[in-house]
Amino acid sequence: MGLLLLMPFLGAAEERTSRTRGEALASLGEALFFDTSLSADGAVACATCHRPDAAFTDGRAVSRGAFGRQGARNAPSLMGLAQTREFFWDGRRISLEALVMDPLTTAEEHGLAGESAVLALVQARHAKGFARVFPDEGVTRETVAKALAAYLRQLVPAPSPFDRFQAGDAQALLPEQRRGFALFVGRAGCARCHRLEEGAFTDGAYHPGEVPLALVPRQPDAARNVLGWEPEARRAAIPARADVAALGRYAVSLRAADLGRFRTPSLRNVARTAPYMHDGSVPTLAQAVERELYYRKSEGLQVGDLTPADRSSLVAFLQALTSPQVPTQTAP
Ligand code: HEC
Ligand code: HEC
Repeated sequence: MGLLLLMPFLGAAEERTSRTRGEALASLGEALFFDTSLSADGAVACATCHRPDAAFTDGRAVSRGAFGRQGARNAPSLMGLAQTREFFWDGRRISLEALVMDPLTTAEEHGLAGESAVLALVQARHAKGFARVFPDEGVTRETVAKALAAYLRQLVPAPSPFDRFQAGDAQALLPEQRRGFALFVGRAGCARCHRLEEGAFTDGAYHPGEVPLALVPRQPDAARNVLGWEPEARRAAIPARADVAALGRYAVSLRAADLGRFRTPSLRNVARTAPYMHDGSVPTLAQAVERELYYRKSEGLQVGDLTPADRSSLVAFLQALTSPQVPTQTAP
């Protein structure tokens, strides 16, 4: 918005320059995003786990990185993050710039041995691109972070049938989807957390998630152990250990009230992001809706109060949050 207001004061030439610089920065980030050579085994790119055709998720319960090493969390969609203030299922990072070195240096993701290893590989492969966009700085921790963050910020979901409906086209939703919408914001209580404001379908807050039975007996030990660890050690343990990952927000805040809480995910493009939940434990959208109805009933609502037809209209509504256009890789 700020930019739009400024436009009339900029000359046409300056406007063009600032736009092309922004585009050049994002396409530098795009080149990094799709580059498998930035990994310990030469086979993993950001796009391995954040595939454009799956709304930037990977279709797996938990993702697999270099040398097939398995992580402990489900890869979230990366669309519409420009307004997000806290990142990851537990909110452990508060800016995209601060976040992007994490996957590159995490053993279960790109698996590179620290920032200097990342910078050496970027230098070897992308020195020219960086010299063009950052003639004075070249490849540094900051310029790599700026480029990747710029690419991520422009991954905006294309309009969905629901957006056309909100813009006044009543026919954009089928009658069943309109009934689902009414339940979503009404009796079923979904919009309490998956809030419609800013179109993101999240409140950005942390609520209880389900921990698999097998992990429950290990939680007291895990919760006690992390209290003694430095933030860096806690961060490294989250992708490496399912018991620590299941602590949710607690592993970041160390507040008992945050045990097993996870950030409400956006529901944009949710039909393309199966499987669901922080650990990918729910295979289908219909099952995700069933689980949410069971755990998060509104005050006074019994599970049986929603008929099978009500539940399928909720699923149908969620399908209307998916953009018909599938994003593709554009630049490199
Ligand atoms: C091996 C799979 C894998 C790779 C490779 C990977 N990611 Fe991720 N990404 C994940 C998982 C899993 C999470 C969720 C982690 C968590 O919440 O603890 C995630 C989370 C994120 C988030 C947070 C999104 C949100 O809604 O909070 C961003 C941003 C992100 N990744 C960007 C990147 C970028 C940029 C790269 C490349 C430099 C990358 N990822 C590489 C699996 C991967
Ligand atoms: C109290 C807040 C809250 C309410 C109410 C709520 N949700 Fe959620 N929802 C969450 C949280 C938190 C998660 C993630 C849980 C996890 O990862 O274990 C989630 C996950 C989901 C997912 C999986 C998304 C993904 O990408 O993995 C779907 C689908 C979903 N909710 C739909 C609904 C529907 C439909 C309703 C209404 C019946 C609803 N939710 C009510 C907080 C809420």
